[in-house]
Amino acid sequence: MPTLNDIRSTFLSYFNRQGHEVVPSSPLVPRNDPTLMFANSGMVQFKNLFTGVEHRDYTRATTAQKCVRAGGKHNDLDNVGYTARHHTFFEMLGNFSFGDYFKAEAIPFAWELITKELEIPKDRLLVTVYHTDDEAADMWKKVAGLPDDRILRIPTDDNFWMMGPTGPCGPCSEIFFDHGEQYWGGPPGSPEEDGDRFVEIWNLVFMQYEQFEDGTRRDLPNQSIDTGMGIERVAALLQGTNDNYATDLMRALIEASADASNTDPDGPGKTHHRVIADHLRSTSFLIADGVMPSNDGRGYVLRRIMRRAMRHAHLLGERDPLMHRLVPALVQKMGAAYPELGRAQPLIEETLKLEETRFKQTLDRGLKLLEEELSGLPQEAALPGKAAFKLYDTYGFPLDLTQDALREQGRSVDVEGFDAAMAEQKAQARAAWAGSGEAADAAIWYDISEQHGATDFLGYDTETAEGQILAIVRDGAEVQSAKSGETVQIVLNQTPFYAESGGQVGDSGEVRTKDGIARITDTRKTAGVFIHFAEVQQGEIAVGGFAELEVDHDRRTAIRANHSATHLLHEALRRALGPHVAQRGSLNAPDRLRFDFSHSKPLDAKERARVEQEVSAFIRQNTPVTTRIMSPDDARDIGAQALFGEKYGDEVRVVSMGQLEGSGKGLDGETYSIELCGGTHVNQTGDIGAFKIVSEGASSAGVRRIEAITGQDALVDVQKHYAIIDELAGLLHAAPDDLATRVRQLQSERKSLSNEVAQMRRELAMAGGSQQGSDASDQRQVNGVSFVAQVLSGISGKDLPALIDEHKQRLGSGAVLLIADAGGKAAVAAGVTDDLTGKISAVDLVRAAVPELGGKGGGGRPDMAQGGGRDAANADAAIKAAEAVLGG
Ligand code: ALA
Repeated sequence: MPTLNDIRSTFLSYFNRQGHEVVPSSPLVPRNDPTLMFANSGMVQFKNLFTGVEHRDYTRATTAQKCVRAGGKHNDLDNVGYTARHHTFFEMLGNFSFGDYFKAEAIPFAWELITKELEIPKDRLLVTVYHTDDEAADMWKKVAGLPDDRILRIPTDDNFWMMGPTGPCGPCSEIFFDHGEQYWGGPPGSPEEDGDRFVEIWNLVFMQYEQFEDGTRRDLPNQSIDTGMGIERVAALLQGTNDNYATDLMRALIEASADASNTDPDGPGKTHHRVIADHLRSTSFLIADGVMPSNDGRGYVLRRIMRRAMRHAHLLGERDPLMHRLVPALVQKMGAAYPELGRAQPLIEETLKLEETRFKQTLDRGLKLLEEELSGLPQEAALPGKAAFKLYDTYGFPLDLTQDALREQGRSVDVEGFDAAMAEQKAQARAAWAGSGEAADAAIWYDISEQHGATDFLGYDTETAEGQILAIVRDGAEVQSAKSGETVQIVLNQTPFYAESGGQVGDSGEVRTKDGIARITDTRKTAGVFIHFAEVQQGEIAVGGFAELEVDHDRRTAIRANHSATHLLHEALRRALGPHVAQRGSLNAPDRLRFDFSHSKPLDAKERARVEQEVSAFIRQNTPVTTRIMSPDDARDIGAQALFGEKYGDEVRVVSMGQLEGSGKGLDGETYSIELCGGTHVNQTGDIGAFKIVSEGASSAGVRRIEAITGQDALVDVQKHYAIIDELAGLLHAAPDDLATRVRQLQSERKSLSNEVAQMRRELAMAGGSQQGSDASDQRQVNGVSFVAQVLSGISGKDLPALIDEHKQRLGSGAVLLIADAGGKAAVAAGVTDDLTGKISAVDLVRAAVPELGGKGGGGRPDMAQGGGRDAANADAAIKAAEAVLGG
């Protein structure tokens, strides 16, 4: 009996032998389709190959594709657990031809695989074709030898497959298996077709059109093939059952659930086990693909599935978190085919456990409230919308969880009342916001948020995606379109662009629609709405259109590295300087990071070096950076560093990196850096590349600021500094290590040389050699006093007193005035021999000279005084003024 894993291998290897490239499943969050919440069939990742927009080096492919149908258009959530074939998660096996082969080969391939490889008995099979598709009907007759009564012509949309409202499409042909008379049901197209007897196992789509928004269709450039086989259904029939939940894989998960809860897998808790087994798959795969529980968009669908499973675990009587204990059983069964599951196992287990622990706190009280509400109602009456809303708002019961709880009693919920209660709460929130005095120009974003909901951010996992344009704002007002040359703001339903927050700058990049291109220069957010600041560069973009979104990759890569390095820096500072270090602000830009932190004195060279080395050690460690969602309290319990000034909601994103030495594999106590952070980070610490502090200084009182660079920038900076050192080493003829000694040596040489020069100048000055040809330079008699006045160049002001002394000695009795001309500025000194100080004061001489030199004041003793001015050119006038003091 083949296992589900055997069937997958058989399928992929059969088509591989037929020249098909085995392509891995795409992630559950579609990168290339803005209309789909989750990948819901195998062809999603190939959409652009069918339409001819994209080409790859293969034209035949085969996949086992992960699919989720919960939320959005295809939503099977409500039925899971109660039926034999509904799943929120399933695998679709497919073969694809992109303009390569068509019907004439697709049908023989399918028939050979089913009857020869899988050995499904031919007489249990029947097929359907689109009613006008004679070609397919003839082919089935020829290839399979099926009689006419087992080739059914279906005139409805059931046999015309469309991916969604737009996109590639075509007539299809479905293969059904007859489980036999013991099951109720009729063949496809009959009124009893929904019974369990005839089960569709494979759909072959003959892709030949592309459907557009306005309802028109055009032929695809090439006829193509898209097929989808439900692996769970095929496993069921090959394993002799009609129930997908009785197959080997689902059974193993059901038994794990029964073991963990110590209950009978087939007892009264049967439905609960089925719900748990299915939801374990969807939640685990969604988390592995980067979806985190939240209150919006995809994250909310995940949360709803998780909580639904948790209620069923509760109904089994489990009082402790159960789901996370089942993850090993899933990884054991599916980890080989989907390695991402094993890689994300710790994250899946933790996310489930945390959600279970938190939800348990309100589940009991919520269920009690539900009971109370119901006890006052007549039998089978619907639960009032207000009560359902209270369960949602206060106890975290998504509406479908309440509906699921009521289903067993045959009751429903007044959904209109629920919606009304929700609308009322929104209106109140809006009124509160309007009264809070926020800038009026934010009102438009609030309106857009109310109308379209929060933007779904995809940028943690991807830098490219498709989105639908929901609004365009120009000069503060909504417009329908924008033309080349216009500057506008664009809102999309989903985006990979990070909006500025938590110190990380907003992304830039490009938005392309079929009619135009816009350059995104910045991204911000208000009221959950991501605002893309755009300059339309070509053509026109319009509301309602689909757009390809592409973040500037190099810039984002550099921002990621800087942001992750900031976390390592923060922790390294705490360890080097003490636990008082707390973040006071940060900037994560592409070219640098800036980190402000509480600390009262500068870092010394040793501390800086230690911090750089520690950050670098964790970069080299190259361990994965992990992200989890938890309550702020749980985050604090595991030691997460919170950001200053941030407001935290019910849940926070926790980013961890770095493994402490000697610790095991686990997280938390053994993790180096744990921070609450909404930013984008590197995958592995090694992606930071390199780290270098470039400056450290005071930011404000008690706050220091470090600027640092990473990656290539750090290398370029080091190269620049090496170039400087090399140049110096060349100039100084010294090895780099000897540069400092060499420079000190030069400094001391320079000092003794300049002393020598000064001495020589003084000597020269005394010998009259420095006189500047002034008439007033000679010794003369003024009013009976010998007076020497000289203007000197090349002499500094501080040398003047020594020269004054020498002149006084030489004169024996007299007065001296020396003016040093230092590049136009003047220093002046006067001296009077002791025998004359009773009559003449040096201070008076200087004070007379200084104003002429453009200065003020001057002072000293009667025998020696000094001053200065701006204007050495007036030296003659200054000398004359001094002579006047002497009475000349
Ligand atoms: N895309 C087709 C389907 O999902 C094969 O049924």
